[in-house]
Amino acid sequence: MSARYHNQLGKEYALSARCTPYFFLVQQSVGLAIKENYGNQSILVLDIGCGTGYTSEQVLKINKNAKVIAIDDEPLMISQAKKRLKKFVASKRINFVCADAGRYLLSKKDSSFDVVVSGLTIHNFADEFRLFILREVFRVLQNKGIFINLDKYYFGGEDTKAKLFCDQIQNFIGLLSKLKKYSLLQQWIIHSVEDQALSKNMNERAAKKQLFSCGFSEAKFVFRRGIMAVVVAKK
Ligand SMILES: C[S@@+](CC[C@H](N)C(=O)[O-])C[C@H]1O[C@@H](n2cnc3c(N)ncnc32)[C@H](O)[C@@H]1O
Repeated sequence: MSARYHNQLGKEYALSARCTPYFFLVQQSVGLAIKENYGNQSILVLDIGCGTGYTSEQVLKINKNAKVIAIDDEPLMISQAKKRLKKFVASKRINFVCADAGRYLLSKKDSSFDVVVSGLTIHNFADEFRLFILREVFRVLQNKGIFINLDKYYFGGEDTKAKLFCDQIQNFIGLLSKLKKYSLLQQWIIHSVEDQALSKNMNERAAKKQLFSCGFSEAKFVFRRGIMAVVVAKK
């Protein structure tokens, strides 16, 4: 179980998503990257840290021939995703697996997936574990397969980083204080401060370097709004 989402943050994730005005726009850009690279080809996609299913949903909507295996180690998140995406569950286009990302990847053969996507998950990992996951993602991808990661990525110097961080906190304060959700607000602020320490290497330049070091031949940031950005890396 993921210690970071086994609480009110997990239970009220839908509300938290609404705090960030560009949340759904950035999720959509993951779908658009799939469309651009695969059109309507039949593809098998792995979603790492699927949460309540926002990223998987974009993949399933934009490509009617895509199938998704969505993994998350937090049962609370998977149960919400199953409800939200019940029509895709019924049509067998998505399968959920409750598992730790590292263990799951280790259990898969080389070249098992056409595409790997992940949304707002990799930044939760400590540096060493993140590097391990990226190496495993590279291994389980088909030749020329792509990894699309939507995440909190910084750019520029400390002043830009501070501004992006403050804007994000303001977004939480804006909606959650209006709704008098003070305890959720407090948890998001603590979570975001912890993220600052965890994601010390989550800036565009370091992230690209890390992807190349794992073997990826290309890595491009294709979309950004505020602190959230989408990188597409090709095997
Ligand atoms: C911020 S949520 C993102 C959910 C969704 N991808 C989205 O974009 O809205 C991060 C998710 O990663 C999951 N997670 C964190 N560590 C994990 C791990 N080691 N293995 C699998 N899932 C993990 C959490 O349980 C949580 O649901």
